Amino acid sequence: MKSKITIPKIQKMKAGGEKIATITCYDFSFAKIVDQSGIEIILVGDSLGMVIQGEPNTLPVTIDQMIYHSACVARGLTVPHLVTDMPFMSYQTSLKDALQNAGRLMKKGRAESIKIEGGVEVAELIYRMNRLGIPVMGHIGLQPQSIHKYGGYKIRGKTFEEEKTLLEDARAIEEAGAWGVVLEGVPREVAEKITKRLKIPTIGIGSGPECDGQVLVLYDLLGLDPEFQPRFVKRYANLFETVSQALNQYKKEVKEKSFPANEHSFRKNLIDAKDKFHTRNALPRAKGANG
Ligand code: KIV
Repeated sequence: MKSKITIPKIQKMKAGGEKIATITCYDFSFAKIVDQSGIEIILVGDSLGMVIQGEPNTLPVTIDQMIYHSACVARGLTVPHLVTDMPFMSYQTSLKDALQNAGRLMKKGRAESIKIEGGVEVAELIYRMNRLGIPVMGHIGLQPQSIHKYGGYKIRGKTFEEEKTLLEDARAIEEAGAWGVVLEGVPREVAEKITKRLKIPTIGIGSGPECDGQVLVLYDLLGLDPEFQPRFVKRYANLFETVSQALNQYKKEVKEKSFPANEHSFRKNLIDAKDKFHTRNALPRAKGANG
């Protein structure tokens, strides 16, 4: 069995020049697949507002929903490090609210780290959380929780002023004690500069190959939505097509009465003790995990 990925192991990967693979995930079944993939970090992102809930952005997502999805993912994991997003207004209102909500994400949602968006303005909060034993990942550049402030999903760091702000934000987060930082929608040259200046790993999305690691939204990588094809996403599968074909075949067989066949049915006189209706089990925890 592979051993549990921890924050010190992830930080050593940066030092050793090994890239860090990260993927979002929102449920138990996909978590089990990610678990055996060798991917180091699994992020329960508030992007679930869009890909699971069908909302136009991440703003409506609540802390209770994040706890629910984080716990579902945690039940399928033995190896990757589990990071869970703190949703909009779960950490901005007061230090007390932020600590209580982060605590609930870790206790009930089994998060091993939490991620918050922001730079200099959240540095004090990161410092307090880290000192109290809550590992924090930062998130700068395009910050989806601030789309209304910036007028949409826009690349950050194009101008000299924006680049300077990003470098200050990155430094402030690192000095406050964040163990890593997501760089979203940052020009490649700027992301490279930040990555070189920081000791903590940078995990990029739409920020070029020089980042210490990459993150993608699982459903984008799997090609679940044929209408969503931004430049920064590479589709590694076309699950929309695969799932559609499977559903069409299922419907056809139900209509023509070829499913269920004999082998999918229980016969009164042929049921023995081993013939359980079904059994599904959660995975055992990985060796070396304390959680
Ligand atoms: O919510 C999310 O999925 C994220 C990643 C895109 C980094 O924050």
